[in-house]
Amino acid sequence: MNRVNRILHDGDYRLYLQKNKVAEEQRAFCRHDLEHLLTVARLTYLLLLEKECRHLSKEIAYSAGLLHDIGRWREYRGEGDHALHSAALSGPILERAGFAPSEKELIVKAIAQHRRPDPGVHRSPLSLALHRADRLSRLCFSCDAQKDCRHLEGRPHWKELQY
Ligand SMILES: [Fe+2]
Repeated sequence: MNRVNRILHDGDYRLYLQKNKVAEEQRAFCRHDLEHLLTVARLTYLLLLEKECRHLSKEIAYSAGLLHDIGRWREYRGEGDHALHSAALSGPILERAGFAPSEKELIVKAIAQHRRPDPGVHRSPLSLALHRADRLSRLCFSCDAQKDCRHLEGRPHWKELQY
């Protein structure tokens, strides 16, 4: 997990998480902090193992999860879809962590697609797992904000635990 740990200690990565934290200080709904990112990382890996996608490494699964929301703070500033910002911000971090260009491309594309259930284009197993893991990461059935959440009924955990 050397490359994953390089991401966790990357100066820009820590800066972006801090920007998310500041932007979400008053937020009543789900936050996009390290706990969420790590939950998505672990679930992405679990889902890939269930699908027996053994050609995708643990480091690739974790990197996608840990990076998938790092541009959320830009969406709060009114600058558009955070998935695209997160993808763009992830590229240099993945390079510094030592990922090969083909690995970087795979991870960045999955991050760019992580909000879309079916964009109508070819999706990698990583892209599909990351999207599903993000939705499974929230324990909506025990959330204090569920009565005000407009996403509740579309969430897999709105009634009971699946993962
Ligand atoms: Fe997201």
